[in-house]
Amino acid sequence: MLSTLLIALLALNGLILGMCLFLLGARHWLASYGQVKIRVNDEKELLVQGGNSLLLSLVSQKIFIPSACGGRGTCGYCRVKVLEGGGSVLATEQMILTPAEIKEKKRLACQVRARHDLVVQVPEEFLAIKEFQTVVSKVEVMTDLIKKITFKLIDPKTIVFKPGQYVQVSLVRPGEEPIYRGYSIASSPFANDIIELNVRRVEGGVMSTYLHTLKEGDSMVLSGPYGEFFLQETTNRSVVCIAGGVGLAPMKSIIAYLTEKKIDRRVYLFYGARTLPLLYDHQVFVEMAKRNPNFRYIPALSDDTVGSEWNGHRGLITKVFQEVFPAGEPAEAYLCGPPVMIDALLPLLAAKGIQPNDIYYDKF
Ligand SMILES: Cc1cc2nc3c(=O)[nH]c(=O)nc-3n(C[C@H](O)[C@H](O)[C@H](O)COP(=O)(O)OP(=O)(O)OC[C@H]3O[C@@H](n4cnc5c(N)ncnc54)[C@H](O)[C@@H]3O)c2cc1C
Ligand code: FES
Repeated sequence: MLSTLLIALLALNGLILGMCLFLLGARHWLASYGQVKIRVNDEKELLVQGGNSLLLSLVSQKIFIPSACGGRGTCGYCRVKVLEGGGSVLATEQMILTPAEIKEKKRLACQVRARHDLVVQVPEEFLAIKEFQTVVSKVEVMTDLIKKITFKLIDPKTIVFKPGQYVQVSLVRPGEEPIYRGYSIASSPFANDIIELNVRRVEGGVMSTYLHTLKEGDSMVLSGPYGEFFLQETTNRSVVCIAGGVGLAPMKSIIAYLTEKKIDRRVYLFYGARTLPLLYDHQVFVEMAKRNPNFRYIPALSDDTVGSEWNGHRGLITKVFQEVFPAGEPAEAYLCGPPVMIDALLPLLAAKGIQPNDIYYDKF
């Protein structure tokens, strides 16, 4: 009797163990897609671990795709064509892509999962984007929230970029997908062995908080250059730069380039911040305006109390631009700052006669 009971118990245990093993195996089988092939631009064939986003799969193979929102499907920067194997267009993608783009098979690389073999086409300029091993060579505290961080390029040792473009910073945390964020290059293209970034710490922000912990000697991987926001060099019209807060970063690169290349164009810098301590690099531009008759510097404080030592413009930079910039002057405009500032500026620029095709901006 006892032996029958023992045999029954053993059989039951065996059955339970077998079921557990079966479930574990099934889970592994369901979760793993094995390796998938990605054919890129009819040139390269990549073999990647299936199941990850197309964006991460391409980046893991050193094909760098812009991703300003860190893969949340909100910035639209990661558009590529998926000719085969991408599955249905997701609702998140339908909010960003136009019907015409969907028809021509454009997708958001961060939203497409590499579950099956894929055939994709990425813009040729993405294939030129490189990864840079760097070391932090200088950290300067500019305001309570903004740090200027300079990276010395180690490998490759130099970078070629257009003034206004940005780099992506990657952060790999154990057990989590890597995250990527864009930061405008603030240094001049002529200082091609370094990259200066101006980073505003965002409350609770993963990357900006991390970047604020960097100190001299720390290693960092950057990729770039990215972006279609850069100085146009086909005309001699005036260059109107309008920056809010840390939106100054790409303007510094544009202005440094124009100055160092001695390009004979009139340059305006409208630069807005709440208070004087937040107007970082203010003195640099004050001095530059004294030396360079082509450069006009128009700073404005929006929250400065009347009666303080500030004797410049007061109010939002949008209002100051409207008051100061002469209507009808042939110009192109470069805007960088919070979305609300840029949205408010677009009709004001139009009213001054600056055509939509001559307005370039990065919102952040
Ligand atoms: C082309 C481009 C260039 C950029 N250049 C610069 C630059 O030169 N300097 C710079 O400091 N930043 C720049 N940014 C913004 C930068 O990429 C990050 O978005 C920013 O640093 C926040 O990232 P995070 O990981 O710290 O915050 P996250 O972890 O992404 O966000 C944390 C929280 O903060 C909110 N949040 C995110 N961004 C902002 C914001 N800007 N203001 C208020 N709340 C926010 C989020 O909604 C979230 O709730 C640029 C962005 C783009 C697209
Ligand atoms: S939409 Fe921003 S990375 Fe894809």
